[in-house]
Amino acid sequence: MIKITTIVENTAAKAKFRAEHGLSMLVEKDGQFILWDTGQSDCIVHNAKILGIDLSKIKTVALSHGHYDHVGGLEYLLDYTSPAIYAHPEIFRKRYSKLSDDGNLRYIGIKDRKFYEDKGAQFSLSAEPVEIFNGIFTSGFEDMHTDFEEVDKNFVYEKEGEYVKDYVEDDMSLVIDMKDGLFVLFGCAHRGIINIMDDIENLFGKKVIGFLGGTHLGPASENQRKRTIEELKKRECVQIMGPSHCTGMLMSSTLFCEFKDRVIFNNVGTVVQL
Ligand SMILES: [Fe+2]
Ligand SMILES: [Fe+2]
Repeated sequence: MIKITTIVENTAAKAKFRAEHGLSMLVEKDGQFILWDTGQSDCIVHNAKILGIDLSKIKTVALSHGHYDHVGGLEYLLDYTSPAIYAHPEIFRKRYSKLSDDGNLRYIGIKDRKFYEDKGAQFSLSAEPVEIFNGIFTSGFEDMHTDFEEVDKNFVYEKEGEYVKDYVEDDMSLVIDMKDGLFVLFGCAHRGIINIMDDIENLFGKKVIGFLGGTHLGPASENQRKRTIEELKKRECVQIMGPSHCTGMLMSSTLFCEFKDRVIFNNVGTVVQL
């Protein structure tokens, strides 16, 4: 049995939890824990306590990409444990988002590798898929091939003193390989959920049967939203959709109207058992 508990998300169904713009989910399999992202602050510590999750037992972390709302909670987690951390080598880019057309930039990256290592983090960086534990893999680099999915236009990063477009090449997903198909956890899915699902299906030779996590459909173009829904309609094998985080309320509701009981509103405290 696999149990996935959402610890940090933009919304929370109960008042005792804290919500923040961010994401963190705990995967439990055969008594082992894999933490998928950490949210942006100490929210993870607050919510884990209420959920009865002992953070000192988390020895493995996988990070979806180097944005503050997915890695910001890591420094607080490191007060409790010194885990192995799986991520893509480009996760430490100095990255920014354009605030408006006047060119103002907001820092949306994470801290330096050394900062986390000094607190006990042990990084294992790879652009290839890695089996973290018994049938649970990182996706590795996600190829982009659809003509309607694009990386957020506002993202740039600092490269040799210049700001260049950030295609978030470090974006990865977590793949749970099960007998009847693949269950996928997204971070923000910056490279497009259809791209990512196609890629993973090609890699594993199996169909995706469900997903949880950020889809970045909230800030996406109207065309990308529409075409993504059209593509999801062709994928009847996707029986569980848990859009979260950067999907936003409006797009999550749209998905619910389209796909009804196949959609879960995944927020703090949601538990999915596979
Ligand atoms: Fe995000
Ligand atoms: Fe992101």
